Amino acid sequence: MRPFQKRNKHFEALVANPDLIWMGQNTNHLPTHPAVKQAMIATIENEDYHAYAPPIGLEELRALMLSDFGVQDADILITDGAIEGLYHACRQLLSDGERMITTDPGWPWPEAFAKLSGAEVQTLPIYEPELDYKLGINQLEGAANQGNVKLIYLIDPLNPLGIGYSEDEIEAFAAIARRANAWLVHDCTYRHFSHDHTLAYHYYPERTITTYSFSKWLGLAGMRLGGLMARPEVIETLSDGQPNALGSNLTSQRGAIAGLKHKSEWFPEVNRIQRANQKSIFEAVQPINDLYMPVYPSNGNFVVIDCSAAGIAPETLVTLYLERGIMIRQAAYQSKNYADRFVKVSTTVPEWQAQRFCEILPEVVAAAREYKETDRAFF
Ligand SMILES: Cc1ncc(COP(=O)(O)O)c(C=O)c1O
Repeated sequence: MRPFQKRNKHFEALVANPDLIWMGQNTNHLPTHPAVKQAMIATIENEDYHAYAPPIGLEELRALMLSDFGVQDADILITDGAIEGLYHACRQLLSDGERMITTDPGWPWPEAFAKLSGAEVQTLPIYEPELDYKLGINQLEGAANQGNVKLIYLIDPLNPLGIGYSEDEIEAFAAIARRANAWLVHDCTYRHFSHDHTLAYHYYPERTITTYSFSKWLGLAGMRLGGLMARPEVIETLSDGQPNALGSNLTSQRGAIAGLKHKSEWFPEVNRIQRANQKSIFEAVQPINDLYMPVYPSNGNFVVIDCSAAGIAPETLVTLYLERGIMIRQAAYQSKNYADRFVKVSTTVPEWQAQRFCEILPEVVAAAREYKETDRAFF
Protein backbone atom coordinates (compact mmCIF):
# COMPACT_ATOMS: atom_id res chain seq x y z
CA MET A 1 0.00 0.00 0.00
CA ARG A 2 1.28 3.46 -0.87
CA PRO A 3 1.71 6.01 1.96
CA PHE A 4 -1.24 8.16 0.85
CA GLN A 5 -3.48 5.08 0.85
CA LYS A 6 -2.20 4.01 4.25
CA ARG A 7 -2.77 7.47 5.63
CA ASN A 8 -6.34 7.53 4.36
CA LYS A 9 -7.12 4.11 5.76
CA HIS A 10 -5.81 5.31 9.11
CA PHE A 11 -8.22 8.26 9.15
CA GLU A 12 -11.05 6.12 7.77
CA ALA A 13 -10.65 3.79 10.74
CA LEU A 14 -10.76 6.74 13.13
CA VAL A 15 -13.93 8.13 11.56
CA ALA A 16 -15.52 4.67 11.63
CA ASN A 17 -14.98 4.36 15.38
CA PRO A 18 -18.05 5.86 17.11
CA ASP A 19 -16.38 5.68 20.52
CA LEU A 20 -13.16 7.46 19.61
CA ILE A 21 -12.23 10.42 21.80
CA TRP A 22 -10.95 13.08 19.38
CA MET A 23 -8.12 14.96 21.07
CA GLY A 24 -5.73 15.22 18.15
CA GLN A 25 -7.02 17.69 15.58
CA ASN A 26 -8.34 20.62 17.61
CA THR A 27 -11.82 19.86 16.38
CA ASN A 28 -14.73 20.72 18.64
CA HIS A 29 -16.79 17.81 19.93
CA LEU A 30 -19.05 19.66 22.33
CA PRO A 31 -22.77 19.58 21.55
CA THR A 32 -23.90 21.91 18.76
CA HIS A 33 -26.37 24.74 19.42
CA PRO A 34 -29.84 23.45 18.35
CA ALA A 35 -30.36 26.45 16.05
CA VAL A 36 -27.25 25.48 14.05
CA LYS A 37 -28.53 21.96 13.55
CA GLN A 38 -32.01 23.20 12.64
CA ALA A 39 -30.62 25.59 10.03
CA MET A 40 -28.64 22.80 8.39
CA ILE A 41 -31.49 20.29 8.57
CA ALA A 42 -33.91 22.81 7.02
CA THR A 43 -31.52 23.33 4.10
CA ILE A 44 -31.49 19.58 3.47
CA GLU A 45 -35.24 19.13 3.97
CA ASN A 46 -36.02 21.94 1.55
CA GLU A 47 -33.50 20.54 -0.94
CA ASP A 48 -31.98 23.99 -1.30
CA TYR A 49 -28.72 22.29 -2.16
CA HIS A 50 -29.73 21.77 -5.78
CA ALA A 51 -28.46 25.27 -6.55
CA TYR A 52 -24.93 26.64 -6.18
CA ALA A 53 -24.37 29.13 -3.40
CA PRO A 54 -23.31 32.68 -4.40
CA PRO A 55 -19.67 32.63 -5.56
CA ILE A 56 -18.07 34.45 -2.63
CA GLY A 57 -20.63 33.41 -0.02
CA LEU A 58 -24.01 34.32 1.44
CA GLU A 59 -24.23 38.06 2.10
CA GLU A 60 -25.65 37.59 5.58
CA LEU A 61 -22.79 35.28 6.51
CA ARG A 62 -20.16 37.67 5.17
CA ALA A 63 -21.67 40.56 7.14
CA LEU A 64 -21.83 38.48 10.34
CA MET A 65 -18.19 37.43 9.94
CA LEU A 66 -17.05 41.01 9.51
CA SER A 67 -18.84 42.01 12.68
CA ASP A 68 -17.34 38.99 14.45
CA PHE A 69 -13.93 40.40 13.45
CA GLY A 70 -15.09 43.86 14.56
CA VAL A 71 -13.92 45.25 11.22
CA GLN A 72 -15.94 47.44 8.86
CA ASP A 73 -13.72 48.43 5.96
CA ALA A 74 -12.77 44.92 4.78
CA ASP A 75 -14.51 42.26 2.74
CA ILE A 76 -14.86 38.49 3.05
CA LEU A 77 -14.32 35.60 0.67
CA ILE A 78 -16.03 32.41 1.85
CA THR A 79 -13.92 29.29 1.28
CA ASP A 80 -14.20 25.54 1.82
CA GLY A 81 -12.49 25.79 5.18
CA ALA A 82 -9.65 28.17 5.96
CA ILE A 83 -7.37 25.70 4.21
CA GLU A 84 -8.82 26.44 0.78
CA GLY A 85 -8.25 30.16 1.34
CA LEU A 86 -4.66 29.45 2.35
CA TYR A 87 -4.15 27.28 -0.69
CA HIS A 88 -5.47 29.97 -2.95
CA ALA A 89 -3.41 32.75 -1.34
CA CYS A 90 -0.21 30.69 -1.54
CA ARG A 91 -0.85 29.79 -5.17
CA GLN A 92 -1.97 33.19 -6.34
CA LEU A 93 0.43 35.44 -4.46
CA LEU A 94 3.66 33.43 -4.64
CA SER A 95 5.80 32.69 -7.70
CA ASP A 96 8.91 30.76 -8.56
CA GLY A 97 11.93 31.74 -6.50
CA GLU A 98 10.06 34.00 -4.06
CA ARG A 99 10.25 33.39 -0.33
CA MET A 100 7.70 32.61 2.34
CA ILE A 101 8.60 32.83 6.02
CA THR A 102 6.81 30.92 8.76
CA THR A 103 7.57 29.16 12.04
CA ASP A 104 8.61 25.70 13.16
CA PRO A 105 6.50 24.35 14.82
CA GLY A 106 3.59 25.45 12.68
CA TRP A 107 0.91 24.03 10.49
CA PRO A 108 2.28 22.17 7.49
CA TRP A 109 -0.06 22.76 4.58
CA PRO A 110 0.69 26.36 3.55
CA GLU A 111 4.34 25.35 3.24
CA ALA A 112 3.31 22.58 0.85
CA PHE A 113 1.10 25.01 -1.12
CA ALA A 114 3.87 27.62 -1.36
CA LYS A 115 6.25 24.99 -2.70
CA LEU A 116 3.74 24.12 -5.43
CA SER A 117 4.09 27.75 -6.52
CA GLY A 118 7.85 27.29 -6.72
CA ALA A 119 8.48 29.42 -3.63
CA GLU A 120 11.17 28.74 -1.05
CA VAL A 121 9.93 28.36 2.50
CA GLN A 122 11.98 29.39 5.50
CA THR A 123 10.74 27.99 8.82
CA LEU A 124 12.08 29.87 11.82
CA PRO A 125 12.68 27.60 14.84
CA ILE A 126 10.74 28.82 17.87
CA TYR A 127 10.33 25.87 20.25
CA GLU A 128 12.89 27.45 22.55
CA PRO A 129 12.36 28.57 26.17
CA GLU A 130 14.55 31.65 25.64
CA LEU A 131 12.15 32.77 22.91
CA ASP A 132 9.13 32.04 25.15
CA TYR A 133 8.17 29.56 22.41
CA LYS A 134 7.26 32.48 20.11
CA LEU A 135 8.48 34.07 16.95
CA GLY A 136 10.78 36.91 18.01
CA ILE A 137 10.63 40.34 16.42
CA ASN A 138 14.38 40.33 15.71
CA GLN A 139 14.17 36.81 14.40
CA LEU A 140 11.52 37.79 11.85
CA GLU A 141 13.32 41.02 10.98
CA GLY A 142 16.56 39.12 10.33
CA ALA A 143 14.82 36.66 8.03
CA ALA A 144 12.88 39.38 6.23
CA ASN A 145 16.09 41.35 5.62
CA GLN A 146 17.48 38.50 3.57
CA GLY A 147 15.36 39.78 0.68
CA ASN A 148 12.81 38.52 -1.79
CA VAL A 149 10.23 37.80 0.90
CA LYS A 150 6.78 37.78 -0.60
CA LEU A 151 4.67 36.27 2.17
CA ILE A 152 4.86 35.97 5.93
CA TYR A 153 2.58 33.25 7.28
CA LEU A 154 1.84 33.92 10.93
CA ILE A 155 -0.33 31.52 12.93
CA ASP A 156 -1.78 33.26 15.97
CA PRO A 157 -2.74 31.66 18.31
CA LEU A 158 -0.19 29.11 17.19
CA ASN A 159 -1.21 25.55 16.51
CA PRO A 160 0.39 23.52 18.13
CA LEU A 161 1.97 25.55 20.96
CA GLY A 162 -0.91 27.78 22.02
CA ILE A 163 1.14 30.96 22.26
CA GLY A 164 -0.41 34.20 21.07
CA TYR A 165 1.17 37.52 20.15
CA SER A 166 0.73 40.80 22.01
CA GLU A 167 -0.46 43.97 20.34
CA ASP A 168 3.13 45.29 20.33
CA GLU A 169 4.42 42.15 18.67
CA ILE A 170 1.69 42.24 16.03
CA GLU A 171 2.42 45.89 15.34
CA ALA A 172 6.13 45.07 14.93
CA PHE A 173 5.43 42.10 12.63
CA ALA A 174 3.14 44.28 10.51
CA ALA A 175 5.87 46.92 10.22
CA ILE A 176 8.39 44.27 9.14
CA ALA A 177 5.98 42.97 6.49
CA ARG A 178 5.37 46.51 5.24
CA ARG A 179 9.11 47.27 4.98
CA ALA A 180 9.63 44.02 3.09
CA ASN A 181 6.63 44.83 0.88
CA ALA A 182 5.35 41.34 1.69
CA TRP A 183 1.89 39.92 2.21
CA LEU A 184 1.07 39.12 5.80
CA VAL A 185 -1.19 36.09 6.07
CA HIS A 186 -2.51 36.12 9.62
CA ASP A 187 -3.95 32.71 10.37
CA CYS A 188 -6.54 33.35 13.07
CA THR A 189 -8.18 29.93 13.01
CA TYR A 190 -8.00 29.72 16.84
CA ARG A 191 -8.69 33.38 17.62
CA HIS A 192 -11.95 32.71 19.46
CA PHE A 193 -10.21 30.66 22.17
CA SER A 194 -7.56 33.28 22.84
CA HIS A 195 -7.23 35.22 26.09
CA ASP A 196 -6.35 38.33 24.15
CA HIS A 197 -5.99 38.84 20.41
CA THR A 198 -4.93 41.61 18.05
CA LEU A 199 -5.66 41.63 14.34
CA ALA A 200 -2.62 42.50 12.24
CA TYR A 201 -5.14 43.89 9.75
CA HIS A 202 -5.42 47.03 11.92
CA TYR A 203 -1.70 47.76 11.44
CA TYR A 204 -1.23 46.73 7.83
CA PRO A 205 -4.65 46.74 6.20
CA GLU A 206 -3.44 47.08 2.64
CA ARG A 207 -1.66 43.69 2.50
CA THR A 208 -2.86 41.60 5.41
CA ILE A 209 -5.04 38.59 4.66
CA THR A 210 -6.75 37.14 7.73
CA THR A 211 -8.14 33.63 7.84
CA TYR A 212 -11.38 32.53 9.49
CA SER A 213 -12.48 29.00 10.32
CA PHE A 214 -15.78 27.51 11.41
CA SER A 215 -14.12 24.18 12.18
CA LYS A 216 -12.88 24.99 15.64
CA TRP A 217 -15.03 27.44 17.60
CA LEU A 218 -18.29 26.32 15.97
CA GLY A 219 -17.36 22.66 15.59
CA LEU A 220 -18.11 22.34 11.85
CA ALA A 221 -14.82 20.76 10.70
CA GLY A 222 -16.54 18.08 8.63
CA MET A 223 -18.76 20.71 6.98
CA ARG A 224 -15.73 22.52 5.46
CA LEU A 225 -16.36 26.23 5.83
CA GLY A 226 -14.10 29.21 6.43
CA GLY A 227 -13.02 32.42 4.79
CA LEU A 228 -10.49 35.12 4.11
CA MET A 229 -10.81 38.72 5.26
CA ALA A 230 -8.92 41.51 3.51
CA ARG A 231 -9.36 44.91 1.88
CA PRO A 232 -12.05 44.81 -0.89
CA GLU A 233 -9.43 45.29 -3.62
CA VAL A 234 -7.47 42.30 -2.28
CA ILE A 235 -10.61 40.16 -2.10
CA GLU A 236 -11.40 41.21 -5.64
CA THR A 237 -8.04 39.87 -6.80
CA LEU A 238 -8.44 36.67 -4.77
CA SER A 239 -11.99 36.08 -6.03
CA ASP A 240 -10.62 35.79 -9.54
CA GLY A 241 -9.60 32.17 -10.01
CA GLN A 242 -10.65 30.93 -6.58
CA PRO A 243 -10.65 27.10 -6.68
CA ASN A 244 -14.23 27.06 -5.50
CA ALA A 245 -15.63 29.66 -7.91
CA LEU A 246 -19.00 27.92 -7.69
CA GLY A 247 -19.57 28.79 -4.06
CA SER A 248 -19.14 26.90 -0.79
CA ASN A 249 -21.46 24.41 0.83
CA LEU A 250 -24.87 26.04 1.33
CA THR A 251 -25.82 23.80 4.26
CA SER A 252 -22.66 24.75 6.11
CA GLN A 253 -23.19 28.44 5.40
CA ARG A 254 -26.71 28.34 6.84
CA GLY A 255 -25.38 26.56 9.93
CA ALA A 256 -22.63 29.15 10.30
CA ILE A 257 -25.11 32.02 10.12
CA ALA A 258 -27.10 30.46 12.96
CA GLY A 259 -23.87 29.84 14.87
CA LEU A 260 -22.78 33.46 14.65
CA LYS A 261 -26.25 34.64 15.71
CA HIS A 262 -26.14 32.44 18.81
CA LYS A 263 -22.43 32.73 19.51
CA SER A 264 -22.64 35.03 22.52
CA GLU A 265 -25.02 32.71 24.38
CA TRP A 266 -23.29 29.45 23.38
CA PHE A 267 -19.55 29.87 22.90
CA PRO A 268 -18.49 31.15 26.37
CA GLU A 269 -19.47 27.81 27.89
CA VAL A 270 -17.48 25.94 25.21
CA ASN A 271 -14.43 28.01 26.06
CA ARG A 272 -14.98 27.55 29.80
CA ILE A 273 -15.05 23.77 29.33
CA GLN A 274 -11.96 23.65 27.15
CA ARG A 275 -10.02 25.86 29.59
CA ALA A 276 -11.10 23.63 32.49
CA ASN A 277 -9.87 20.66 30.43
CA GLN A 278 -6.52 22.41 29.90
CA LYS A 279 -6.26 22.84 33.67
CA SER A 280 -7.05 19.17 34.34
CA ILE A 281 -4.38 18.11 31.87
CA PHE A 282 -1.87 20.53 33.38
CA GLU A 283 -2.54 19.11 36.84
CA ALA A 284 -2.25 15.54 35.57
CA VAL A 285 1.11 16.27 33.94
CA GLN A 286 2.68 17.95 37.01
CA PRO A 287 3.33 14.83 39.13
CA ILE A 288 4.84 12.86 36.26
CA ASN A 289 8.62 12.87 36.17
CA ASP A 290 10.16 14.24 32.98
CA LEU A 291 6.91 15.47 31.41
CA TYR A 292 6.09 19.16 31.19
CA MET A 293 3.86 21.63 29.43
CA PRO A 294 5.94 24.45 27.94
CA VAL A 295 2.93 26.72 27.40
CA TYR A 296 0.10 26.98 29.91
CA PRO A 297 -2.53 28.31 29.72
CA SER A 298 -2.84 27.94 25.98
CA ASN A 299 -4.59 30.47 23.77
CA GLY A 300 -5.89 27.68 21.58
CA ASN A 301 -8.14 24.69 22.23
CA PHE A 302 -5.09 22.46 22.66
CA VAL A 303 -1.96 22.03 24.76
CA VAL A 304 1.47 20.59 24.16
CA ILE A 305 3.13 18.05 26.45
CA ASP A 306 6.90 17.70 26.14
CA CYS A 307 8.02 14.08 26.57
CA SER A 308 11.62 14.36 25.39
CA ALA A 309 13.22 14.38 28.87
CA ALA A 310 11.47 11.06 29.55
CA GLY A 311 13.11 9.58 26.46
CA ILE A 312 9.65 8.74 25.11
CA ALA A 313 8.98 9.12 21.40
CA PRO A 314 5.83 11.19 20.78
CA GLU A 315 4.63 8.45 18.43
CA THR A 316 4.70 5.98 21.31
CA LEU A 317 2.29 8.10 23.33
CA VAL A 318 0.07 8.54 20.27
CA THR A 319 0.02 4.78 19.67
CA LEU A 320 -0.64 3.87 23.29
CA TYR A 321 -3.42 6.44 23.64
CA LEU A 322 -5.01 5.28 20.41
CA GLU A 323 -5.01 1.70 21.72
CA ARG A 324 -7.02 3.10 24.64
CA GLY A 325 -9.50 4.94 22.40
CA ILE A 326 -8.04 8.46 22.44
CA MET A 327 -6.51 10.23 19.46
CA ILE A 328 -3.71 12.72 20.16
CA ARG A 329 -1.05 14.05 17.73
CA GLN A 330 2.70 13.62 17.45
CA ALA A 331 5.00 16.62 16.96
CA ALA A 332 6.27 15.31 13.62
CA TYR A 333 3.02 16.37 11.97
CA GLN A 334 3.82 19.99 12.73
CA SER A 335 7.59 20.23 13.10
CA LYS A 336 10.80 19.12 11.46
CA ASN A 337 13.26 20.41 14.06
CA TYR A 338 11.28 19.35 17.13
CA ALA A 339 9.67 16.14 15.91
CA ASP A 340 10.96 14.18 18.91
CA ARG A 341 9.84 16.63 21.54
CA PHE A 342 6.10 16.71 22.20
CA VAL A 343 2.55 15.56 21.67
CA LYS A 344 -0.42 17.85 21.15
CA VAL A 345 -3.68 17.28 22.98
CA SER A 346 -6.91 19.04 22.00
CA THR A 347 -9.31 20.24 24.66
CA THR A 348 -12.72 20.94 23.04
CA VAL A 349 -14.19 17.67 24.26
CA PRO A 350 -16.68 16.87 27.04
CA GLU A 351 -15.05 17.06 30.45
CA TRP A 352 -15.40 13.32 31.06
CA GLN A 353 -13.26 12.66 27.98
CA ALA A 354 -10.48 14.96 29.17
CA GLN A 355 -10.75 13.26 32.59
CA ARG A 356 -10.25 9.92 30.91
CA PHE A 357 -7.12 11.26 29.20
CA CYS A 358 -5.81 12.41 32.59
CA GLU A 359 -6.70 9.23 34.49
CA ILE A 360 -4.75 6.97 32.16
CA LEU A 361 -1.77 9.30 31.71
CA PRO A 362 0.40 7.68 34.46
CA GLU A 363 -0.27 4.20 33.11
CA VAL A 364 0.37 5.28 29.50
CA VAL A 365 3.64 6.96 30.43
CA ALA A 366 4.76 3.90 32.38
CA ALA A 367 3.97 1.69 29.37
CA ALA A 368 5.73 4.16 27.07
CA ARG A 369 8.94 3.96 29.13
CA GLU A 370 8.97 0.21 28.49
CA TYR A 371 7.84 0.42 24.86
CA LYS A 372 10.08 -1.44 22.45
CA GLU A 373 8.22 -1.01 19.15
CA THR A 374 9.94 1.25 16.69
CA ASP A 375 7.06 1.50 14.23
CA ARG A 376 5.91 5.10 14.39
CA ALA A 377 2.49 6.56 13.62
CA PHE A 378 3.29 8.87 10.78
CA PHE A 379 -0.03 10.56 10.22
C1 LIG B 1 -3.39 26.84 11.85
C2 LIG B 1 -4.51 26.26 11.06
N1 LIG B 1 -4.96 26.90 9.98
C3 LIG B 1 -5.98 26.42 9.25
C4 LIG B 1 -6.58 25.23 9.58
C5 LIG B 1 -7.67 24.68 8.71
O1 LIG B 1 -8.93 25.18 9.07
P1 LIG B 1 -10.21 24.71 8.28
O2 LIG B 1 -10.74 23.50 8.95
O3 LIG B 1 -11.14 25.90 8.41
O4 LIG B 1 -9.84 24.47 6.87
C6 LIG B 1 -6.14 24.51 10.69
C7 LIG B 1 -6.73 23.21 11.04
O5 LIG B 1 -6.29 22.48 11.86
C8 LIG B 1 -5.08 25.05 11.45
O6 LIG B 1 -4.61 24.42 12.53
